[in-house]
Amino acid sequence: MDFKLAVIPGDGIGPEIVAQALKVLERVGSVFGHNFSIKELLAGGCAIDAVGEPLPEETLRECKNSDAVLLGAVGGVKWDNLPGDKRPEKALLGLRGELGLYANLRPAVVYEELKDACLIKTMDTSDNIDIMVVRELTGGIYFGERGRKMTEDMGELAFDTEVYTTLEIERIARMAFDIARKRKSKVTSVDKANILESSRLWREVVEKVAKDYPDVELNHLYVDNAAMQLIRDPSQFDVIVTTNMFGDILSDEASMITGSIGMLPSASLAEGNFGLYEPIHGSAPDIAGQDKANPLATILSVAMMLRYSFNLSKEADAVEKAVEKALKEGYRTGDIMSPGKILVGTEKMGDIIAGLIE
Ligand code: IPM
Ligand code: MG
Repeated sequence: MDFKLAVIPGDGIGPEIVAQALKVLERVGSVFGHNFSIKELLAGGCAIDAVGEPLPEETLRECKNSDAVLLGAVGGVKWDNLPGDKRPEKALLGLRGELGLYANLRPAVVYEELKDACLIKTMDTSDNIDIMVVRELTGGIYFGERGRKMTEDMGELAFDTEVYTTLEIERIARMAFDIARKRKSKVTSVDKANILESSRLWREVVEKVAKDYPDVELNHLYVDNAAMQLIRDPSQFDVIVTTNMFGDILSDEASMITGSIGMLPSASLAEGNFGLYEPIHGSAPDIAGQDKANPLATILSVAMMLRYSFNLSKEADAVEKAVEKALKEGYRTGDIMSPGKILVGTEKMGDIIAGLIE
């Protein structure tokens, strides 16, 4: 089959990790008989440098014309002092909003081979930890009205607004329940319904959607408690569904339980099959260009792309198995290195994974 892929390497380590992911994708193409045509596009800091804006029109247009988008990472200290709407991060929000990527799937899995890497040393990792954070991505405080004004006697006032509609909550809840059905059939909805009106609507709508999924267990947690439970006993979670900002925070927390942010992929899905796939880590400018970055999160993002946007689950399995096999054979990049293992660079890791695709 033929697929059209928009590729945004971005900044920092973005280009080097994306190169490895494309190497693996090409190998998948030749083993399974698919053709992936690739269009490289600018977004983020490199786009600011090249054309003066983080998300050029052409990038957006080409993304809309593709079957999926693969993104490395955007941002870096160089652009940190620009005003809010000119920053590289604006490219991400623009892509999410304009492409309708309302559902952000962030799996946090502790790999058998990397159990030692778990950063919380007292945690019992003998239990199977496999959490899917389903984060709402085009609503809430990220997209609500914001601004500043001068008050008479209190100085300047700044505000951001948390807004949710029934429809927005309903579709993300359905996504979470559908995913839970293919896993351990448990959904934990996270909100702050003891305080926020938007959370009270969130809870009501999630309850209503749950009626269509009697086979899936639902519970609710306030976000402060959820943050605590994630550290206390992460094995209690299967699917976590939550708002844009709570999901931003909890998915970073969940990633640390796995011990290696360099391992975690993500999918941002629109209605239908379209999606944007990226590692959850950032652009790591401190190690850019040194062949040190871990490409596995980006390679695993390609697996998610094969599964969710291209409906190629056999191919997705092959990529995930190759990653597991490489870990089993002892190959490690610096971030997941431990005594007795084989230290490899970014490119070598890409070659190893591509070679293990069968
Ligand atoms: C993420 C990031 C982004 C977010 C930033 C870079 C805009 O933290 O994808 O989690 O806050 O959504
Ligand atoms: Mg984040």
